[in-house]
Amino acid sequence: MKVAKMSKKSISNIGVFTSGGDAPGMNAALRAVVRTAIYDGKGVFTIRCGYDGMIDGEIEQVDSRAVSNIIQTGGTVIKTARSERFRSEVGRKRAFENLAKFGIEGIIAIGGDGTFRGSLEFYREYKFPMIGVPATIDNDVYGTDFTIGYDTAVNTSLDAIDKIRDTSQSHKRFFIVEVMGRDAGFIGLETGIAGGAENILIPEVKTDVDKLCGQIESLFERGKTSNIVVVAEGDDAGGAAEIGAKIKEKTGIDYRVVILGHIQRGGNPSSKDRLLASKLGYWSVKHLIAGKSNLMVGEINGKIALTDMAEAVGKKKPIDMAALEMAMVLSS
Ligand code: F6P
Repeated sequence: MKVAKMSKKSISNIGVFTSGGDAPGMNAALRAVVRTAIYDGKGVFTIRCGYDGMIDGEIEQVDSRAVSNIIQTGGTVIKTARSERFRSEVGRKRAFENLAKFGIEGIIAIGGDGTFRGSLEFYREYKFPMIGVPATIDNDVYGTDFTIGYDTAVNTSLDAIDKIRDTSQSHKRFFIVEVMGRDAGFIGLETGIAGGAENILIPEVKTDVDKLCGQIESLFERGKTSNIVVVAEGDDAGGAAEIGAKIKEKTGIDYRVVILGHIQRGGNPSSKDRLLASKLGYWSVKHLIAGKSNLMVGEINGKIALTDMAEAVGKKKPIDMAALEMAMVLSS
């Protein structure tokens, strides 16, 4: 890990925003950033609606009470967006001018890899001091074992799967449950293992539909009274509906589809997510004030870890293939 840039003078005012898909725990991270910065004598400005708010000047100074009673809430009280305009030089210039207008000298970006791509570009152009805090339900950010929101999303999906199991069992019915994850199978893998799924399909592994059909038939023949396949939305064989249709065509087995969708993004953050958000929010400010920049603060093996932003967005976090193999054994 290398520290890309140390700011020369100490920062007086810090800006903070949430960006990309909302994730449970973003509010807890925001609370930690605001209170740590104020405790350390800094002015804090919230920027609404992610980069869009930076471009439009939706910026306001807040005090510690502005983040009261939000540690337990889902979503993000300062809103979020996936900004198209920040992709352009014109948008980034306006954002820079607005930050300067409010006297903001460093920013904390709470979001996922799309957010960090934006902040990296911004850093390259303006050398604007910035630290990233990883928050996305997908857990697909390199440089941290877990992202804020992932644990809650997994537990939300798991709760649904447990319920689906009851009805699957009662009817001896085959279910395909689609979870989020366009490019990454972390939610699918963990939910699948914990929910005892009979198969788990994730984008990292090519799906062999013929093999899957054989496995489903064989499990029913061998006395299984329920069968749930968990599929991540980004699987190469398609989403739950498409895969179900393919299986029905080949085997004649009837199926039901459940798409969990945005339910996974909401809800009160779990204790793990609140704790992670509090730690990463706190340390992001500490490092920014200490003059560090262009880094993401994560947690690896229980310890706070800083990763160069280019590395955080450029490297792919590996999925645990051994766990996937184990899941197949345990559900046989
Ligand atoms: O990045 C989080 C995520 O929930 C992904 O799992 C999902 O593919 C995507 O966002 C959905 O994005 P949107 O809410 O913009 O449709």
